Amino acid sequence: MQLMPFRPTEAPTVLVVDDEEQDRSTVAGIVSSLGYAVETAADGGEALAKLDALPISTIVTDLRMPGMDGAELLRTLNDRGQFTPAIVMTSFGDIGQAVTIVHELQAFWFLEKPAPPAMLSSLLDRAIKYGELFRGTARLQRELSHQGVLGEMVGSSRAMQQVFALIQRVAPTQASVLITGESGTGKEMVARAIHRLSHRSAGPFIGINCAAVPGDLIESELFGHEKGAFTGATGRHLGCFEQANRGTLLLDEIGEMPLGMQARLLRALEESKVRRVGGSEEIPVDVRILAATNRPVEGSLHEKSLREDLYYRLNVFHIHLPPLRQRKEDLPQIAKAIIDTLNQKHECSVAALHRDALQRLMAHSWPGNIRELRNVLEWAVITAQKDLVLPRHLPKLGGEAVLEPSPAPPQREDHAVRIELGRTLDEVEREYMAETLRSVNNDRKRAAQILGISLRTLYNRLAQSKSANAAS
Ligand SMILES: Nc1ncnc2c1ncn2[C@@H]1O[C@H](COP(=O)(O)OP(=O)(O)OP(=O)(O)O)[C@@H](O)[C@H]1O
Ligand SMILES: [Mg+2]
Repeated sequence: MQLMPFRPTEAPTVLVVDDEEQDRSTVAGIVSSLGYAVETAADGGEALAKLDALPISTIVTDLRMPGMDGAELLRTLNDRGQFTPAIVMTSFGDIGQAVTIVHELQAFWFLEKPAPPAMLSSLLDRAIKYGELFRGTARLQRELSHQGVLGEMVGSSRAMQQVFALIQRVAPTQASVLITGESGTGKEMVARAIHRLSHRSAGPFIGINCAAVPGDLIESELFGHEKGAFTGATGRHLGCFEQANRGTLLLDEIGEMPLGMQARLLRALEESKVRRVGGSEEIPVDVRILAATNRPVEGSLHEKSLREDLYYRLNVFHIHLPPLRQRKEDLPQIAKAIIDTLNQKHECSVAALHRDALQRLMAHSWPGNIRELRNVLEWAVITAQKDLVLPRHLPKLGGEAVLEPSPAPPQREDHAVRIELGRTLDEVEREYMAETLRSVNNDRKRAAQILGISLRTLYNRLAQSKSANAAS
């Protein structure tokens, strides 16, 4: 009988990258003696070619190499969203740089040359397991997303399947993403999903609503300020960029940002540095930028409320969320997910929607999209408390004739403001605004629409009325 030579075909492959032939073969020898398959490359370019062609489990790379060096190799892999754990090998004196690379480029670890075989062995073992775990999780996420679930987002329509696929593709990269879609379609949820599925998920996720910050405060909100920078600046304040360092920053309602500020933002993005208001130091920041807008981008560009250069910088990747009326088939699944969270929030035990209640929801056009659906379901869950949501548990939907008499609703239904003569216009305006907000469950966007003012104006007026209340 002829014995077949032993070939560990299942052994994970380690790619050793070093320009020094001697170092390369020493490390390759150690790796091979540990039972792994070995591939070698003399620089980053050759390494990329092998990574494209072969199933590499882990990389062991030198830092300084002619052509594409180790840092550039990792940066390229990051930008492509290609995840392979990498151990960086470094000569004495490069340790500081290696630590930075571990943090910024998500290298797995670093080792000083010459690498003690025992240490290389235990690091390779951990790196390979980590890679398997990561790929396993990514596979599970893909499978789940085919069933219409991505984290907290649900939706089985073709449109949402495409959105989920885009999120999974772009999340592990460093690319900026512009998320568009009508109000309430789930833009912030997409941004959070991208952050959660990225290598930055352990870092902070910070969002700033550019429409909600008064124009004169936005610079300090974004870049921070030093003590005494302006009246009222009683201490140093870290802006969103610094707060989001090593994480993700969502610039929400980007088209509402004043134009002058957009130019400063662009500079900060290009230089990856910010200067606090009243400060002189340029502070380096490592932030992934996501931006969202509910206005059609072409319109914003045309009316010049969004700078074209900033748009191109943000729109490296684009995800558009279609309105709910164009993906009604998602409604039952989304409603179920929302009811589950509302049950927890309000300690209710609603099981599902009655067929007739669902039919009414399916017939509505949902101008406020999923946020409006959530508001309607919140009312319904509180009203029904348990079992099934019946049609009579639903509030009246916009533009719909009341189909059935509602029982005593949990909140005031007919919102009205009584105006006695002798009151000031300011007082009436404040009360009218407050009542409008109450009538839409504090949905500020919706309230601004009803009042016929921009969201920014609504926020400004609310801030004014807060200070007027405080003063009186
Ligand atoms: N696919 C989804 N599955 C479940 N819930 C969702 C989904 N999309 C959105 N939601 C819910 O709808 C509500 C609105 O979502 P989100 O705040 O992300 O929308 P938005 O597009 O950012 O809205 P706006 O333009 O008003 O800021 C949230 O309560 C969110 O949890
Ligand atoms: Mg939002």
